Amino acid sequence: MWSTKNPFLQGPFEPLLNEYVVSDLQVDGEIPRELNGALYRTGSNQHFRPNDPDHFHWFDGDGMVHAFRLQDGRASYCNRLVETDGLKAERAAGRALYNGITGHTGVPQPPLPEGAPLIKSVAGINVISLAGRVLTMHEIDPFYWELDPLNLQTRGKFDFGGQFPAMLTAHPHADPRTGEMLFYAQDNEGGTLDCFATDAQGQVLSRHRVRLPFAPWIHDFIFTAQYYVFVFGPIRTRPYAPDLIPMGRSSLSFDNQAPTRVLLVNRRTGQDRWLETDASFTLGHFLNAHEAADKIIVDASVTRTVLPGFKGQIENFYPFPLVDEPSPVSGPELHRITIDLSTGRVGTSRIGDFAAEFVRPNETIMGTPQRYGYMAGIHSPGPQTRGFNCLVKHDYETGRSSFQHLSVGYDMIPGEPIFVPKAGATAEDEGWIMAVWWDPLRNASEMVIHEAQDFDGAPAARIRLDHHVPLGFHGNWIPDA
Ligand SMILES: [Fe+2]
Repeated sequence: MWSTKNPFLQGPFEPLLNEYVVSDLQVDGEIPRELNGALYRTGSNQHFRPNDPDHFHWFDGDGMVHAFRLQDGRASYCNRLVETDGLKAERAAGRALYNGITGHTGVPQPPLPEGAPLIKSVAGINVISLAGRVLTMHEIDPFYWELDPLNLQTRGKFDFGGQFPAMLTAHPHADPRTGEMLFYAQDNEGGTLDCFATDAQGQVLSRHRVRLPFAPWIHDFIFTAQYYVFVFGPIRTRPYAPDLIPMGRSSLSFDNQAPTRVLLVNRRTGQDRWLETDASFTLGHFLNAHEAADKIIVDASVTRTVLPGFKGQIENFYPFPLVDEPSPVSGPELHRITIDLSTGRVGTSRIGDFAAEFVRPNETIMGTPQRYGYMAGIHSPGPQTRGFNCLVKHDYETGRSSFQHLSVGYDMIPGEPIFVPKAGATAEDEGWIMAVWWDPLRNASEMVIHEAQDFDGAPAARIRLDHHVPLGFHGNWIPDA
């Protein structure tokens, strides 16, 4: 599609051209009757032929949200593009106007219509529930997009009353102990990072500002009872630099001199503490973190820097290679990072021999030690394996991992697994795992529900679509009110 060599336009990544509304989906097995609500997922779905299809980057496709609605054991589905300002300008022009945030075209953007934004952000990273709203977002806007929860029409912007005119995180986290939602807002031109907490209605309860001495690509953070925790790897980003995206250059760059740094921000006082590591790695997503005496234990997916002096274009390699050259970074791996508050040392050690990304816990235990982590993985790859081929459940108590491949004899490709606790659950893994899998034999996708306590067993329900859902980024189960 548009390019025969760009992997981000083929197979599991191929953009979906239609918006569907399907009721009463075909189900193998039984949808648990207690699951009433919707699984919302978003991802990259380029609408117009990119200006430079060969350098189109996975992160730059228009946001498309998919909703699997479950009600009394039955399932329906719809999907819709998020009508961002940039996409609206392109719809009016009838073609792509913008260079991507991440990829490079090498050519300047054409003149834009009056009033159009200078760069196009794409609301394709996450879907969350806040203040009774369904919100989707990129990570470079000072707002989120509100969607109609039923038909996914774009309703407008949600921006905390304009209090944070900076890049709002696409990975907010809820602290189940305090009921707060935690966020950051990053200004890489002004060099500031605001950490803030809201109540469930989005009312700001506290905020702290930290100076940023460089322009990190952050993407995710984590928290403990006392701290916001950030890990800054070697990737930098300046999406609002006038000489980058509008001129056809990626907003991302690679600082081959930089150590990987940890930033702790005290949630109560706002006091910041910086620590350096000997290792160089880029943090993809955090699973969880907790405090243990004078240490902070962080579990996360990490890509190690394997060519420290790399001077090329990082967008060609992160998170997956676009070009056939030695990559400066490893694949994503599961790591435990130990931050020693008394010595200032930061250590990291790999867990397992599988690749791992899109890590998610049972979110009701966040901020305290988790026993289990769930993630998309690559385990026992075959010659045909391209990308994730299983879901992984890792048990931090026994050190054992279990794997769910779903298919036999060939690879189905899963996205991020989402854990939904059962009502009245007493065990941490008493709940359901929901994930969308792509079946290359049908070029179609299905939403699969597993019992988390029978992780490598047969699924409870396979809810089948007749079309594919491009391998997306993130989403959440939002139960009916
Ligand atoms: Fe993410």
